[in-house]
Amino acid sequence: MTRVALVTGGSRGIGAAISKALQADGCTVAATYAGNDEAAAKFTEETGIKTYKWNVGDYESSTAGIAKVEEELGPIDIVVANAGITRDAPFHKMTPQQWQEVIDTNLTGVFNTIHPIWPGMRERKFGRIVVISSINGQKGQFAQVNYAATKAGDLGIIKSLAQEGARAGITANAICPGYIATDMVMAVPEKVRESIIAQIPVGRLGEPEEIARCVSFLASDDAGFINGSTISANGGQFFV
Ligand code: CAA
Repeated sequence: MTRVALVTGGSRGIGAAISKALQADGCTVAATYAGNDEAAAKFTEETGIKTYKWNVGDYESSTAGIAKVEEELGPIDIVVANAGITRDAPFHKMTPQQWQEVIDTNLTGVFNTIHPIWPGMRERKFGRIVVISSINGQKGQFAQVNYAATKAGDLGIIKSLAQEGARAGITANAICPGYIATDMVMAVPEKVRESIIAQIPVGRLGEPEEIARCVSFLASDDAGFINGSTISANGGQFFV
């Protein structure tokens, strides 16, 4: 059976690897993006995966975008809420705007992505929800009060949805990636990044494909008994 999967922030970084992995699993994949038209067009050209542009932080745009995806590709069976941003600053320098932008995209964006799809999943008695949280939602991080709050919030979302969706065949799980070789981590000052790598027992950054493989498993029909769980994929940097 061909499943339809939606991956937010699915044309770059970890999201792109997830989109490709789900496509390789036989899914029809829709990848969303927020702004980078060029990267999205290139991604579609290379993979054949359709991309859709909307701001996950806006409920109306999310609802309209999801309706378009379902009209073109069919009802969504798998949702990967991956879109996320950082606006790092030590707390004494963090502005209300930096706080709000991260909350809107990383936390409200998860609500906005899952909420419009949820009723259909309940009706069809099947759904796979995977939220991409972070090691920094588990352990906190200097200069990431905003980001860590959203990523910890993601874990509350999946644990609650896991209970609400269980009888309807819907599972909700999270992955907490550690530091992965993406633009987001490369934006961290080099000296800081080096000190972070020194704290990772495997001695390297993770690869996006290593996160995508976790998603692939949680999104599969076979993973129906795994619900409300968190997979930590961080090279041994932090144990829960
Ligand atoms: N722990 C303790 N102290 C730290 C620190 C840390 N991790 N990082 C910085 N500091 C210290 C600095 O040494 C400096 O101290 P001094 O003033 O005594 O020299 C002070 O904190 C920072 O002061 P600045 O005024 O220089 O800070 P800034 O306003 O320029 O901000 C920064 C710099 C934004 C904090 C920058 O260092 C940075 O980006 N750090 C990385 C934060 C980080 O790890 N983000 C994760 C991004 S990846 C991601 O989020 C993906 C994921 O899910 C894992």
